[in-house]
Amino acid sequence: MQPIIQAKHLVKKYPLGGLNTLLALDHIDFEAYQGDFIAIMGPSGSGKTTLLNCLSTMDAPTTGSLHILGKNLVMTSQYRLNEFRYQHLGYLFQDYHLMDNLTNHENIEIPLLMHHVEIKKRQRYVLDSAAKLGIEDILNQYPSQCSGGQQQRIALARALVNQPDLLFADEPTGNLDSQTSKELMLLFQKLNAMGTTILMVTHSCEMASYAKKVLYLHDGCITHELNRANLARDAFYQQILTINLLDEFTKE
Ligand SMILES: Nc1ncnc2c1ncn2[C@@H]1O[C@H](COP(=O)(O)OP(=O)(O)O)[C@@H](O)[C@H]1O
Ligand SMILES: [Mg+2]
Repeated sequence: MQPIIQAKHLVKKYPLGGLNTLLALDHIDFEAYQGDFIAIMGPSGSGKTTLLNCLSTMDAPTTGSLHILGKNLVMTSQYRLNEFRYQHLGYLFQDYHLMDNLTNHENIEIPLLMHHVEIKKRQRYVLDSAAKLGIEDILNQYPSQCSGGQQQRIALARALVNQPDLLFADEPTGNLDSQTSKELMLLFQKLNAMGTTILMVTHSCEMASYAKKVLYLHDGCITHELNRANLARDAFYQQILTINLLDEFTKE
């Protein structure tokens, strides 16, 4: 089977002024396959967001290669990248990124408007996406009238409205209480079971335990990889806790 994402020797250096640079990703090799649900963990500053951004085409690596669905995405024009993202990728962020002056329906519709989808299709896609997430009844409200959990579902409906193959999520439960976070993870599992490949950054061991695989980053390198295989979620959670504790003890 061909990987859906294949990255080789990803390096990301941030300029620090003068000749100094910060090495945020240190020659990372990464593969994801269709149907994966991967959680990226690691301490603050370990490079999780940088890795997700480089894998999701939001940011360009300094060096290294990236193929998604077999397509080489390094040095691609902005226009082609935008088209590719619309056809294949969805994004979810910690702080929802919703427009307060638009209704929930209009927020979900934004990617379709940007790609000139005709009105009947827009209507259908928005309703399909909202139905998957159980938010049909709040489509005419504004984000400010909704709870954090509802706002995150609206943002998720927007991320899914183009029916992406891949969903990228950076700390999607970072602003949610634990019950709402669990509900979001159950939704992720459901979407994953329906065929969406998911890459999620989280620093919560519990949220990571809903994934099928956990990668652990430290100083821009992948230091551990855990596969859930047939483990029950609770047993997987214990394994993830152990890796996090190990890292705490060895970093001094
Ligand atoms: N735009 C930037 N300019 C300079 N340094 C950055 C920038 N973004 C991130 N960094 C640095 O790169 C490292 C990795 O950051 P990040 O990927 O945000 O980590 P994480 O998401 O794991 O907290 C950190 O040391 C951070 O300070
Ligand atoms: Mg981050």
